[in-house]
Amino acid sequence: MTLVAPVRPTSTPLGGPSLAQERKLVTSIPGPKSRLLSERKAQAVSAGVGIALPVYVVAAGGGVLVDIDGNSLIDLGSGIAVTGVGNSAPRVVAAVAAQLAQFTHTCFTVAPYDSYIEVAEALNRLTPGDHEKRSVLFNSGAEAVENAVKIARHFTGKQAIVAFDHAYHGRTNLTMGMTAKNQPYKNGFGPFAPEVYRAPMSYPLRDGGIDGVVAANRAISQIEKQIGASNLAAIIIEPIQGEGGFIVPAAGFLATLLAWCCANEVVFIADEIQTGFARTGHMFACEHEGIVPDLICTAKGIAGGLPLSAVTGRADIMDSPQAGGLGGTYGGNPLACAAALATIDTYETDNLVERAATIGQVMGERLTALAAVDPRIAEVRGRGAMMAIELVDPATGEPDAALTGRVIAAVHAQGVILLGCGTYGNVIRFLPPLSIPDDLLLEGLQVLTDALAADSAAA
Ligand SMILES: Cc1ncc(COP(=O)(O)O)c(C=O)c1O
Repeated sequence: MTLVAPVRPTSTPLGGPSLAQERKLVTSIPGPKSRLLSERKAQAVSAGVGIALPVYVVAAGGGVLVDIDGNSLIDLGSGIAVTGVGNSAPRVVAAVAAQLAQFTHTCFTVAPYDSYIEVAEALNRLTPGDHEKRSVLFNSGAEAVENAVKIARHFTGKQAIVAFDHAYHGRTNLTMGMTAKNQPYKNGFGPFAPEVYRAPMSYPLRDGGIDGVVAANRAISQIEKQIGASNLAAIIIEPIQGEGGFIVPAAGFLATLLAWCCANEVVFIADEIQTGFARTGHMFACEHEGIVPDLICTAKGIAGGLPLSAVTGRADIMDSPQAGGLGGTYGGNPLACAAALATIDTYETDNLVERAATIGQVMGERLTALAAVDPRIAEVRGRGAMMAIELVDPATGEPDAALTGRVIAAVHAQGVILLGCGTYGNVIRFLPPLSIPDDLLLEGLQVLTDALAADSAAA
């Protein structure tokens, strides 16, 4: 079959905040040009690459994505928590354009440049704790997690790693082993790396609401019995679990684990790859619990959409590996560093931590009101601009993945980008860009409300 390339709209709009901030559908979703591209995708791209909503994007900014058919969709996903500052944010565009004209790559480990150091200094300043810190830059979240494990093993001379139920840490071999959910992340991809163990999480909706300290002691007891602190290099945990279902552990869970790690020479690694950079109404989610991790992994929201990740932490741990033991060809690429500096400047100058808290308040009020009249919503949870609802069969309390899938599909058809998540596939998550206007956010939530009502009416 010969497929003809879809023709772009004659006047492709420029992205960024000046893009018209509206939901406007001019075709069905996905439209004909997007459908044609989906056919080409099937012929050209591995089937292993799944797509949540196959509308092919030509421009994005503020709180919208515009597709190749001319539809303007409300973005409540931020490319999975990446574009906190918005797509094509002006400072990021200017900084990257200027860097592009200067030089594109030298490899920091061959001939370095100052922006890498500036990003490290910013991360050392912004992450929790005022102790001496160091940072190292990589490309993806999974790469940051892999390297945090390398560093912790080198520092402690120990090998075992503990990750938690419902955890998601990436798709590389080591991080697949640390990720909890089989489908679609692990199925058929083993064997996985050894010396990775799993401990029970605090999941208030599904563990009887046990106290955070009790839940942590349950995990610690299992770790001591099955592994032993003398063999354990690190525990790694997302302070709010992302792909696992936006699970907020009960108060005291993280602090109790951290205290045990401190007492047992075990490195405490916070994976803030999804929660980081203003998203939760603090610069980092650990701040909600007042905890200071030994190492912290960041990515996603760090660079306005350019690929960059980092490990930041205690200087004595971070300085442990031998020179040449950490790095990579592209880690801390100059374009990504320029983007990160402009992104961090935007978070700070535009008070986006506060904006995330306000978005959380708006979403929280709307979703809580919805849950009050809809028993299918078992819980509204999250922090700041990282919120979720968990959907169940009200008769049994069992997770309702089918309902979740139907509601997400209905919302997509109405031009709102929403993502699912959760071990049981029954969580809808809200991750709007912090640049979204309030009216679009409310319109997106109204579309969700209507979709839930329509599904109920059809049942
Ligand atoms: C908490 C967490 N850790 C690690 C990763 C992996 O990041 P990446 O996809 O950039 O490798 C993700 C990605 O969703 C994540 O949410």
